[in-house]
This record gives sequence, structure tokens and C-alpha cells, in this order.
Amino acid sequence: MEDAHVCGMAAYDKLVAEADADPSGYWSRLARELVSWKTPFTKGLDDSQAPFFQWFADGTLNVSYNCLDRQVERGLGDKTAIIFESDDGTVSRVSYSDMLARTCRLANVLRARGVKKGDRVVIYMSMSVEGVVAMQACARIGATHSVVFGGFSAQSLRDRIEGAGAVMVITADHQLRGGKQLPLKAIVDEAIALGGCDAVADVIVYRRTGGAVAWEPSRDRWMHEEMQAQPPTCEPEWVGAEHPLFILYTSGSTGKPKGVQHASGGYLLHAALTTKWSFDMKPDDVFWCTADIGWVTGHTYIAYGPLALGATQVVFEGVPTYPDAGRFWKMIQDHQVSVFYTAPTAIRSLIKLAEADATVHPKRYDLSSLRILGSVGEPINPAAWAWYHQHIGGGRCPIVDTFWQTESGGHLITPLPGATPLVPGSCTLPFPGITAAIVDEYGNDVPHGQGGILVIKTPWPSMIRTIWGDPERFKSSYFPAELKGCYLAGDGAIRDPLTGYFTITGRIDDVLNVSGHRMGTMEIESALVAKTDLVAEAAVVGRPDDTTGEAICAFVVLKGARPTGEEATRIANELRNWVAAQIGPIAKPKDIRFGDNLPKTRSGKILRRLLRSIANGEAITQDTSTLENPAVLEQLAQKN
Ligand code: PRX
Repeated sequence: MEDAHVCGMAAYDKLVAEADADPSGYWSRLARELVSWKTPFTKGLDDSQAPFFQWFADGTLNVSYNCLDRQVERGLGDKTAIIFESDDGTVSRVSYSDMLARTCRLANVLRARGVKKGDRVVIYMSMSVEGVVAMQACARIGATHSVVFGGFSAQSLRDRIEGAGAVMVITADHQLRGGKQLPLKAIVDEAIALGGCDAVADVIVYRRTGGAVAWEPSRDRWMHEEMQAQPPTCEPEWVGAEHPLFILYTSGSTGKPKGVQHASGGYLLHAALTTKWSFDMKPDDVFWCTADIGWVTGHTYIAYGPLALGATQVVFEGVPTYPDAGRFWKMIQDHQVSVFYTAPTAIRSLIKLAEADATVHPKRYDLSSLRILGSVGEPINPAAWAWYHQHIGGGRCPIVDTFWQTESGGHLITPLPGATPLVPGSCTLPFPGITAAIVDEYGNDVPHGQGGILVIKTPWPSMIRTIWGDPERFKSSYFPAELKGCYLAGDGAIRDPLTGYFTITGRIDDVLNVSGHRMGTMEIESALVAKTDLVAEAAVVGRPDDTTGEAICAFVVLKGARPTGEEATRIANELRNWVAAQIGPIAKPKDIRFGDNLPKTRSGKILRRLLRSIANGEAITQDTSTLENPAVLEQLAQKN
């Protein structure tokens, strides 16, 4: 790796020193190198309204121009931007010129339908070229997109459409996953019928399968028909660097999911820069990020970062286990993927399947094109790391364990291949310019070797700008007064006494991470108690799980008598399906336990720590003398 973009620790240290000496100057230098500006900015950081930080604020740009037009102007028009592999294995290639033409046509459709700069557009699609085009088309006309993961229920979709005040929804008739056709348009119809989405004037529908869909002629339009009627060129809307590029809803520890708002200039810079340095992206690389565009990883490392660099990437519609669990390895072989980025959950489940069935073992595939591997979304346990390194990377590919969040816009702590010596299970060192630190509850630094609260001490360009419509919640969630102006990530961490390497120890709030999907315990509790005919009270905690990292464990008090035996199983299944309908299948509790009551103090506070011990099957060592009703502990220990 002598030709890595950041080569050797001396190069890393030099960047860190540059950033330390003059953070605003460092990021400004990179913003001039990596982003094309319509009007150059004159100032990097503006902290006059902290914690509402601004970056490059007087510069203007267009993100879609940076991702598409710029590549065509550089002579990359015929280069493949996306290798799309559908669920059934059909492969198509889309060049940069073609991406630009499609984006322009759709952008013209949006404009013709009255969508203006600053309007919000909800995108509810599965993995597709059209999904990426939809995001780019919004960026082109200065509309702010809010992508909703295609696995979310009508209720969740409705909440997000209403929350964002969207004027348009872009969707598909159906999606194909694992050989099955699943509805999308029908869920949009259901969401709108639930009410509160009055601002939605148009629903644009991409015809994916041609399967039957209900049609509301005053509102619904086929994407292909509308696009055919529009020219393949579209003048970009030049926006200020702080213009909101997107809102992405994510879970917090309290209340409803929050709309994380990102800006245009700073976000694009970090998307491009981290794609370049963390993955050491070169012109001939074939990059594959297996995330869904419904999550932040699919925003930064599919829709924006790789395109901003003019890279070639794979976009995959399907699932890793269809038609068999060798799908990922076959695709790496077929498309000569050189940089592969996935989640530990996927690796852990594929290890199990490969060990059970030799025909899908990675050794049956030629994976020699790989040169860099990445991991994201949750801690990667050393055993999974070792398997990934040996069986996928052939022992020769560095694994970049990238720690970051929806709010950070891009990588915060990660090794840089070609520079950082790796330690399995550690995300190693901060990306140059990111001032990660570990503090106690009063914001004081703790010594290496002592666990604490992970914070970022100074602003960075791609940080969250606010919570959509709720600036007070933004301040209290991320900049609590006691942390003295530090950004609170919400994770615990510890640094190695010798190397200073970071290891993330998990969330310190009531946010769960199930298969890399982030969920608030309170959202699931609210969904359970919304089943008013059955449920009186519910409490949700996480417990460790071998495959999914964490599993959801729900403790439920019914309105009627506590069920046992088959009745308990039946009601537990009913509640699981209910939660799936309220939030989405990813939120289904794995365990449901029924009690006559929940363990509470005499003042009525639910003892969650106790519930966590019960969920883990641990012996209760805590003092239970303050418990109002110690007898329920035994009831709650029984799984359904
Ligand atoms: O707890 C951390 C965990 O995922 C959280 C962020 O979730 P989300 O906003 O959905 O973004 C996921 C994709 C970036 C973090 O607060 N997390 C993410 N990456 C890692 C991780 N935990 C440990 N190691 C990681 N590499």
C-alpha cells in the first residue's frame, strides 16, 4: 500500500497536526480541493451561533453537479458509475453520462410538478438506480430529501411524511427481495390514508415489477412516463453551502424519531474525503457498500461519496442469502469488487451459513480482486473480524472498522488503510480533523484505559445542523450543558493505554442496535402500549445476541390476566406482528415476557437495569428490597 492516499502513520500525524493547528484552514483547504464551488467561500467555520455551527457558509454549490456533471466534464462520461445487480441476478451498467441524463429528466419532472428549492420530498424505495437518481434529482433542484427505509411500516412512513411536511413522495410499485415481491406503493397509499399528509400533491411511481397497484389519477404519476416527456438537461439550482441537503429520521432515547438535518457543502466534503481516504479509493477501484439507501451509510457511501469521486460502484437490490448464502462472494467475484463495505451482522450470519454448508463457503469463490474491507454499524467482535480478514480478505486486505453515526454524516473514528496498524475490535484513531475524546459526566477528560463518554470536542463540516423543526431538542440531545460544548455521540468508549486506540463499548442511552439498525426502546414501548385492547404496560430492553449484536426483549403487562403456555405464545406472536405493523419488521421483539406487573420502585420507577439482567438470563444480584413487587421477577424470567 505504498501508494495509499494517506501513506504511513507519519502522513496521518502530519494531517492531524495541520488540523490541530488551524481546524478551519485545514477543512477549507480540503473543501477547495474536493468540492467544486459555483461561488467560492471566504470563511471555513462560523461558530458565532454555536452549537448551530456553519461551514463555508458564503460559498454556493450544487451537490448533484459535483457528483455527475463534474465527472462528465472531466472526461468520465462513459465510465460506469453504477453496476446494478437485481434480486434475480440481472446486471445493468449505468455510465456517468447516463446517470446525469436520468437525474436531469427526473429533476425536470420535480420542477414541472411544482417542487421548489427547500421543499421536502420523501423517497420510499428499495435499492435501485432510480433510488439514487431520485436523491440526486432532489439535490439538483435544491429540494431536501428524506429517504425512508423500504422496510418501515405505513405508520412510520406517515409520521415521517408529516414530520418533514413533504410535498411529494417518490416510490416504486413493488420491491423484489429474496425472490419475493413486496409492496411499496400500497404502503404509501396506506400512509397517506392515515391522514396528516395533506401537503403531498404528487406520488411518483417507478415501475419495478409491473405488478398491480391501486391508482389515484389526481395524485399518482408513473416515473417513466413523466421522465420521457422531459429533456435530459437541467440547470442545477446553486444553493448556499448550508442549504439542507437531506433530513434522515433516526431513533433517539426519548420521543419520536428525530429528523437529522444535514447541510450541503460540509456534508459533501466529508462524504468525498472519507470515501477517498478511509477506503483509499482509486480510479480503477470497484466499490461495493451493501447498505440500503434508507440508512445514512447508503446516503454517504452510495448516493454521494463514490459519485463525488467519479468511482465505479455496485448497487445490489437483493439480500445476502438469495438464491444462496454465497451471493455476496459470487458478486465480488463477478464484478471484480476491490473495496467491500458491509455490517458485522451480515458477516456473522454468513459465517454460520458457510460453516453449515460448504457450497456457499467463500473459499469456493475467487475473491482475489479485493484489496480493502470495511465494517460499519456496530462493534465487530474479534472472531468475526478474524474470519472476515482470513476468508474474505485472504489475510491480505486491511479491515477499516468505521465508527460513525447518522448525525456525523461520515466516518468519525476509523483506520486508514496504508497508514493505521490494525487491532481487531478497535476502530483505532480519529479521522484527521475529528477531535474525538473520552470524558466523564462533567466533560472532563478521563485517562486512557478508563471508560467514559465519547465526545467530539470541536465542530466538523458534516455534522448534524439541527433536528428538523426542533432546535431545542438538537441542543439538549447533542450539546448538554454539563459537557462544556462537546458533541455527545451517545456511545461509551475506552482508549488503549499504550496506543490511544478507541474501542466503542456501546450506547449509553436507551438506543438499541439490532443488526446494525438503530431503534429507541421507547418507540417499541409506545408501539406496544398502542395496542390498547391488550396491553396495559410495556418496557423494552436490549440483550446481547450472537448474530444480530443486540436483540429486543419486551416485558409486557396485559390488561387481562397474565397468559401462560400456548396462550402466551399466541399473544406474543400477535404483539410481534402488531409492532411490525406499527414500526416495521426490524422492530419485532425477539423475546416477549409477561408479568402481572413490572419491577418498580415504590415511587413507580421501572427498574430497567433489573430487566436487562433478566433479559440476559443473569442471576439477580441487585438489591431488590426497594421493589414494590419482587414476585414478578420470576414471572418475567420466562421467555415466549
Ligand atoms: O452505537 C454506534 C453504532 O451505531 C450507532 C449509529 O447508528 P446509526 O446512526 O444508525 O448509523 C449507523 C451507520 C453509521 C453509533 O452511535 N456504531 C456505528 N458504527 C460502529 C458502531 N459501533 C461500534 N463500531 C462501529 N464501527
